[in-house]
Amino acid sequence: MTQHYRITLLPGDGIGPEIMAVAVDVLKVVGEQLDLAFEFQEALMGGAAIDAKGEPLPSETLDLCQNSDAVLLAAIGGYKWDTLPRHLRPETGLLGLRAGLGLFANLRPAKILPQLVDASSLKREIVEGVDILVVRELTGGVYFGQPKGIFATETGEKRGVNTMAYTESEIDRIGRVGFETAQKRGKKLCSVDKANVLEVSQLWRDRITALAPEYPDVELSHMYVDNAAMQLLRYPKQFDTIVTSNLFGDILSDAAAMLTGSIGMLPSASLGASGPGVFEPVHGSAPDIAGQDKANPLAQVLSAAMMLRYSLNQPAAADRIEQAVLTVLDKGNRTGDIMSEGMTLLGCRAMGEALIQALSV
Ligand code: IPM
Ligand code: MG
Repeated sequence: MTQHYRITLLPGDGIGPEIMAVAVDVLKVVGEQLDLAFEFQEALMGGAAIDAKGEPLPSETLDLCQNSDAVLLAAIGGYKWDTLPRHLRPETGLLGLRAGLGLFANLRPAKILPQLVDASSLKREIVEGVDILVVRELTGGVYFGQPKGIFATETGEKRGVNTMAYTESEIDRIGRVGFETAQKRGKKLCSVDKANVLEVSQLWRDRITALAPEYPDVELSHMYVDNAAMQLLRYPKQFDTIVTSNLFGDILSDAAAMLTGSIGMLPSASLGASGPGVFEPVHGSAPDIAGQDKANPLAQVLSAAMMLRYSLNQPAAADRIEQAVLTVLDKGNRTGDIMSEGMTLLGCRAMGEALIQALSV
């Protein structure tokens, strides 16, 4: 029997529409092959929404997202909107989407593909075999804590304030995602905090430690965030699953992504307790190459695979897409960002065609 899914597409800005078009083509082909019917509905978000509607996350966009089975997001932002007041910036729309859908868990895999080891800026022996998953808390911490703002002091000097705060229940629910994710992977969980200085991190560490007995098969360790940044570069293979707060996860997931040398290859998933998840590449909107058919669509395509795996429970379809990506790379196809000697340089559309071809054999 045909399975029907309603997918909201948010192509966003910059290279977003180009890479989204490739992912949609791939989903259509896999859908036909595995009897999955996707109903795509497109909505405006980010700079595109600011230009058309005067706000980065129009309420009709959030409504469509809430009424779908999953959301596929490309990328938002660009120089054009960087100087607008904060509430009108594309990034504010993204934070609104995360909060509006209750997406407290952000999964960011950083797995190095054997075909691309030489794209890393680190030595082969350091990065070969790296397979890390960063579980980042996404709707709390200093990104959302109150009070926040820029306030005038008594002397008239301005003071900028953000608040890093977590409740026990917020820590517990992301901690559980961390343990459960580790259970499905290498069974090692490293919780990253700054408990030597911050009270909020002390509570974080206490709660994560308190959860550990419920997951006796997972080996738990704790690391301070500064050390974690260093260890990621020194000996990344020591990590399997990392669980951490919003800001630390923002920073460490970029560092982990760069180990692979190809941020253009990395997908991510943002999940809530129930309801649709949002799936998006880790990279940004790359306005410098937008509209030139140079973008790497593979992170977007792999985000569609994560969507099939995590939100739609269609692992066979996800496997097919991931295998097609490996096949095109094995054949020597590369976009500019992952190009190396002796390989074939393809544009965004041609990479999409190569994927369709790989799926069709
Ligand atoms: C990310 C980005 C966002 C964040 C920005 C664009 C708001 O850096 O998804 O990592 O800081 O969370
Ligand atoms: Mg970031």
